[in-house]
Amino acid sequence: MIPFVNIQGQREAYREELEKAEKAVLDSGIYIGGQEVAALEAELSAYTGTYAVTCASGTDALTIALTALSVQPGDEVVVPDFTFIAPAECVARLGATPVFADIDPRTLQISPESVESLVGPLTRGIIAVNLFGQCAPYEKLREIARRHGLWLLEDSAQAFGAMQGSKRACTLGDMAITSFYPSKPLGCYGDGGAIFTASKDLTQKVRMLANHGSEERYLHKVVGTNSRLDALQAAVLRVKLAHLDSELESRRKIAERYDQFFANIEGLSPQQVADGNTSTYAQYTLLADNREEFIAKLDRAGIPHCIHYPMPLHKQPCFAELSARYAENAADMASQKAVSLPMCAFTPIDEIIERLEKVFLRSS
Ligand SMILES: Cc1ncc(COP(=O)(O)O)c(C=O)c1O
Repeated sequence: MIPFVNIQGQREAYREELEKAEKAVLDSGIYIGGQEVAALEAELSAYTGTYAVTCASGTDALTIALTALSVQPGDEVVVPDFTFIAPAECVARLGATPVFADIDPRTLQISPESVESLVGPLTRGIIAVNLFGQCAPYEKLREIARRHGLWLLEDSAQAFGAMQGSKRACTLGDMAITSFYPSKPLGCYGDGGAIFTASKDLTQKVRMLANHGSEERYLHKVVGTNSRLDALQAAVLRVKLAHLDSELESRRKIAERYDQFFANIEGLSPQQVADGNTSTYAQYTLLADNREEFIAKLDRAGIPHCIHYPMPLHKQPCFAELSARYAENAADMASQKAVSLPMCAFTPIDEIIERLEKVFLRSS
């Protein structure tokens, strides 16, 4: 069976290195924090060229970053309408209101024009998501943020390792976050996340917030939380980080193979990668004019698929009270057409293309 994300294939490839690193942590007696976490943070910092603070998940990273940016009840924060729920959920958990910006129908990234139209007196910031592994249009977003005195938070949960021109993902806003959820381009064997910023002041704040509001044992300056990355996860991530660039190269080659195949099939449009962007292809997603028919063919070929995401956030039941102001938009269109295909550095692309040929070329 072809896996949607071949995490076991990856473990097989690095088994010796992983088992050595895992054993060293288990034998050390230090399971929270310690040398492994400090070393990972230094490596993440060197990779991105910015400060890095690890925490327990991407969702925690968002909440901690938003708290450090002083989001308050009554504030409004602009988020993309077409993404995983976490950015909007974290804004709402802090008592603020998520305002849903539409997307570009080809790149599927947040639309700066839509963001601009939603900025009002209560707006405090923008969360841009690097959807499916490609960076959002930061030049325009930074300009809007600067003009309106807003902060810009980069949700790079799906895009650690992506580039925009000469800049790395996680360095494109005032703060950034990523997720180490197992199926992410850089994933561990449980939950994990990190926060990035070039600001020393914000780094100090997020570190304190993630550690019970404390910098000194049993002295709590602010109300914080417990959000820590386990040493075991840090050790796994250090092994995988050393292979990340080569994995990203493999992902791009696999995406090219898909692109070449689908270029000749009508009614299927892969997510466009904007000029200057290199994607991590956290997902290889395309828009299918007739999704039911496309999925039926994938099923016949035995190719797994997922729908990212079946509903725009403005239609989610938990945001029902906010829905009234939104009309049918490109996020609705994307949620009706999107289909994601198997993607990771260990995806058996030859076999997948062969199977696709059988159902798309030979039987039609
Ligand atoms: C865009 C985005 N933001 C945030 C998150 C949350 O990350 P985590 O699952 O590590 O909490 C995810 C996870 O899928 C995501 O895709």
